[in-house]
Amino acid sequence: MMKEIDWNSLGFHYTEPEYIVRAGYHNGAWSDPYATQDKYLHLHVSATALQYGQEAFEGLKAFRGVDGKIRIFRWRENAKRMARSAEGLFMAPVPEELFGRAIRLALDRNRELVPPYGTGATLYFRPLLIGTTPRLGVGPGQDFEFIVIPSPIGPYYPGKFHCTTFIVNRHVDRAAPFGTGQFKVGGNYASSFRATEAAHAMGLDCLFLDAKTHRYIDECSAANFIGIKNLSPTLSSREGAKASSYEYLTPRSSAILPSITNDSLMTLARERGIKVTRRKIRLEELADMCEAAACGTACVISPIDRVLDPERGKEYSFGSEPGPVLTDLYRALKDIQYGRAEDSHHWCDIID
Ligand SMILES: Cc1ncc(COP(=O)(O)O)c(C=O)c1O
Repeated sequence: MMKEIDWNSLGFHYTEPEYIVRAGYHNGAWSDPYATQDKYLHLHVSATALQYGQEAFEGLKAFRGVDGKIRIFRWRENAKRMARSAEGLFMAPVPEELFGRAIRLALDRNRELVPPYGTGATLYFRPLLIGTTPRLGVGPGQDFEFIVIPSPIGPYYPGKFHCTTFIVNRHVDRAAPFGTGQFKVGGNYASSFRATEAAHAMGLDCLFLDAKTHRYIDECSAANFIGIKNLSPTLSSREGAKASSYEYLTPRSSAILPSITNDSLMTLARERGIKVTRRKIRLEELADMCEAAACGTACVISPIDRVLDPERGKEYSFGSEPGPVLTDLYRALKDIQYGRAEDSHHWCDIID
């Protein structure tokens, strides 16, 4: 039996669930997903996940809406992305139907872990796919384990929606142009740690540039980058210029993860008449932007006040408070996730 959770003091960290869900892939076929209280794997020491990083994961959330119903946000997109990651690492893809059944089972067995509406907390799901074949010779395995770990997490912004400062690092690259950056695989994160931990030690977050030229913005360690440009600079961004006078810019790069949050925000921006452009963005172009942010499932939007480039002696500033365009998009997406606004794109699976 789970002990009582104090939702209001739940931090932005992992809480052990009662059940996880697992399914195995052997002899070319997936088993049915099953719920278990066993959080440990009986894994061979030579498993390809351990030896060669044959591993992929996902992250998605369920929200308790204003009407008391549970909404799972765009899980099919996570299932598709995990299938692409699996193919990228030569693993058996998890069929979308199996992915969906496993999420649903993880939810049903842990219903009491869906935080109440109004706490800002959510139930996060971490789907994980690992190679389990014992193999010391370099190469992929043929056996896999799919696991869904649910965990309630507290609000990303326990207080006020606020800005973060980012720093550029040209000495550690996250992913190569034709490497695994477009896949959600553990190796990308391990290779980011030298840069992200150095940034965190200074109270900052890390913005990665493209690994080939270090001229273009790629993304953050676990979030895409968004910049807002004011196309009518006679009106300042804080004076309520019309939506059509803004441009939403986000990097096009073969080395970044296609963010589902970014895709959702782009749709909402277009609906507001904001021009949306995905292209290569030079770091110096930050000087022409009036707002900037990182975006992803964890935060939705994490506004940026400054980007520091100490090596070039440059600093790009966007104001100390979140700007109006990104604040509006942040609220719009959260309103859909919490059932406060119409879900015209059918992004949420609603569960009574
Ligand atoms: C490297 C990276 N980029 C971007 C994102 C944002 O993606 P999403 O919006 O699908 O969470 C994440 C988080 O999953 C990430 O790890």
